[in-house]
Amino acid sequence: MAKKQDFRTVLKKMVNFEDENHNPSNNDSFNQVLERARLGRRGFLKGSSSLVAASMLGTGMAFLADSVKQEGAAAASDLRLSFSPVSKGIADTLTVPEGYTARVLLATGDPLKRNVTPYKNDGTDNDFEVRAGDHHDAMHYFGMNRAGNGWAPDGSDRALLCINHEVCEDLGFVHPNGPTNYGPESTEARPAVEIDKEVAAHGVTVVEVVKQGSTYEINRDSRYNHRVTAATRCQISGPARHSPMLSTAFSPSGEQTRGTLNNCANGYTPWGTYLTCEENWAGYFNRREDDTARTAKELASFKRYGVGNATSGRYNWSRADAAGNTDIYQRWDVSKTASRANQDYRNGANTFGWVVEIDPFNPNAIPHKRTAIGRFAHEGCWPAAAVAGQPLVFYSGDDARNEYMYKFVTAAKWDPRDATRGQAAGDKYLDAGTLYAAKFNDDGTGEWLPLTMSNPNIANYADYAFADEADVLINARIAADAAGATKMDRPEWGGVNPVTGDVYLTLTNNVSSSSGRGVKTPLNAANPRYYADAKGDTVSKGNVNGHVIRWRETGSNPATTTFDWDVYLFGARANAEPDVNLSGLTDENDFSSPDGLWFSEAVPGLLWLQTDDGYITDATNCMMLAALPGTVGDGEAKMVTNKSVPINGDAEQQVKTYVGQTASPTVLSRFLVGPRDCEITGITESPDGRVIFVNIQHPGENSASATDPAEFTSHWPDGGNARPRSATVVITRNDGGKIAV
Ligand code: FEO
Ligand code: CA
Ligand code: CA
Ligand code: CA
Repeated sequence: MAKKQDFRTVLKKMVNFEDENHNPSNNDSFNQVLERARLGRRGFLKGSSSLVAASMLGTGMAFLADSVKQEGAAAASDLRLSFSPVSKGIADTLTVPEGYTARVLLATGDPLKRNVTPYKNDGTDNDFEVRAGDHHDAMHYFGMNRAGNGWAPDGSDRALLCINHEVCEDLGFVHPNGPTNYGPESTEARPAVEIDKEVAAHGVTVVEVVKQGSTYEINRDSRYNHRVTAATRCQISGPARHSPMLSTAFSPSGEQTRGTLNNCANGYTPWGTYLTCEENWAGYFNRREDDTARTAKELASFKRYGVGNATSGRYNWSRADAAGNTDIYQRWDVSKTASRANQDYRNGANTFGWVVEIDPFNPNAIPHKRTAIGRFAHEGCWPAAAVAGQPLVFYSGDDARNEYMYKFVTAAKWDPRDATRGQAAGDKYLDAGTLYAAKFNDDGTGEWLPLTMSNPNIANYADYAFADEADVLINARIAADAAGATKMDRPEWGGVNPVTGDVYLTLTNNVSSSSGRGVKTPLNAANPRYYADAKGDTVSKGNVNGHVIRWRETGSNPATTTFDWDVYLFGARANAEPDVNLSGLTDENDFSSPDGLWFSEAVPGLLWLQTDDGYITDATNCMMLAALPGTVGDGEAKMVTNKSVPINGDAEQQVKTYVGQTASPTVLSRFLVGPRDCEITGITESPDGRVIFVNIQHPGENSASATDPAEFTSHWPDGGNARPRSATVVITRNDGGKIAV
């Protein structure tokens, strides 16, 4: 019999799916040993005196200046942040600087078509296929030509917004009385109507916006408005297409799958298509089977990606009640239930974790899962500038504790004539190339390690016998283990500075008493901080506040395999001690847990940072900051003293790292603070830089009830007793000027 579960009990048991560790490899410690041997010096000091520490700093970094960097710095030097910083705050409001206006454009459940009824926000609307999905995340603005029938990058009168919908609210605000038999521990059936709604609330919204005065409105009559959901048929393309590891009852030949999931960050292509990225898909699958049913390789893969053998899946989608007991639900069960792989969904999880290309201008086109870019918890897929005659380059983070940073280099060289070819160009560029994982050396240099069978470390890997290139891409995490990549503090968003070419990546935090940085994972120069932050009466275990790393590829060919790096910025409370507040943050710009990171193209050199924080939420809700970031190497080498590091027996540990210039309020300033219990994630802009679109995700996430307004921690954006909703907001400057500068 279906039963309601107490929210507090269910949520307490829920894993934070974005914050997992499934990387048991010893890559960090191994790398450090090699590094120390190669450099003939210690990569870190343990319990050393400050005198020794000072001598280690030497004369700073060797890679400080080159001509490209100076040119870039000069081009951006005219930029000034022109707004007054927003104060930290914990009110249930969205605050932007004086002289700016923020307005809700499209919230969870809002109609995408004129004939769809307004969203009642009481859990009774079931037609999410024609409404905005839930948990708005990354988004991108695709300008349209004046005729309204195609892509025009500078089009400002009309545009298509592609908006990711990462998950469906755990609390079940989309249901009348919260979710039934919910959570990975449940073994009871769920009403099919609830499952259908949750499936449809995931994915992507494509919606047309039109310029109205100084702002934009939704065009609900547009033929382009549509949803891609966790039920949409998708093509599998690239090297893993036809792999027996992708064979399912739905597509025995491994050519197709249904749905895209946990659409987190994004990317876009020089031919006007959208890249939506599947992040935390592992928690969606039911696998309740004895491990002896599976091969050693299958078990290694499940373990590395976090698919346990005692789970019903985050939403328990495979267990529909009698009304929905069909293949469309059973497909979420990845147990071995038949004699052959083409008769069940044992390989179902292998069809998720990819970058998915969607052509927003062709609503009938089938989305393509581009397997050449690898399978992991894809946070996003960010392009470097396209240069005629050179390969295209895309960067991806794998967001879980101690996971890696990836780079995909296309086999085909860029031909600008392909800019109008839509997904046919995707077939040319995104289905063949080389995937690399990053190794950050302790001396400020780095290497891209190829993930192919021609890499002997992969072909001869003792822990997992890769069958072919498809196996390497499907199990990219294991391939990166074999190659010797560096474990990072949860790679979230990345981006390429259009002025300098430097690549930035947020490392949101790495906190856990069982595997956090400095607890079970050694500190290194690129992840140098363990912080015992006295937050109330708890002591944190790891890198609590996160940082932003950046690097410069060697030379002018983006296919290069070496780089120089430094840490652009460390999150911290302004009043933290100097070994924690390493970037010199002040009240105007202190933040924690950077997540969204995005470079404006309309205002080259302007960077936006967004937070998904749980560590300074006593002082402030999550926020967005504007930054003028300088260049790789604009700061200095620093010795960071970490106190009471558990992995070293609670001893003090000093780590040498490279820190960018001090973040004074003139180059980093708080622009927005969101409502309670939200995350700020996703941003895009009009081509003239006078309008930005920002997503507010899951306000009221820590509410204790989905139905009792007194238990909601937020009522944003509707106010009163309303259930909170995620939403896209439009921000304009009252004098019509460019945003932030
Ligand atoms: Fe969905 Fe790692 O953020
Ligand atoms: Ca994120
Ligand atoms: Ca996050
Ligand atoms: Ca999120």
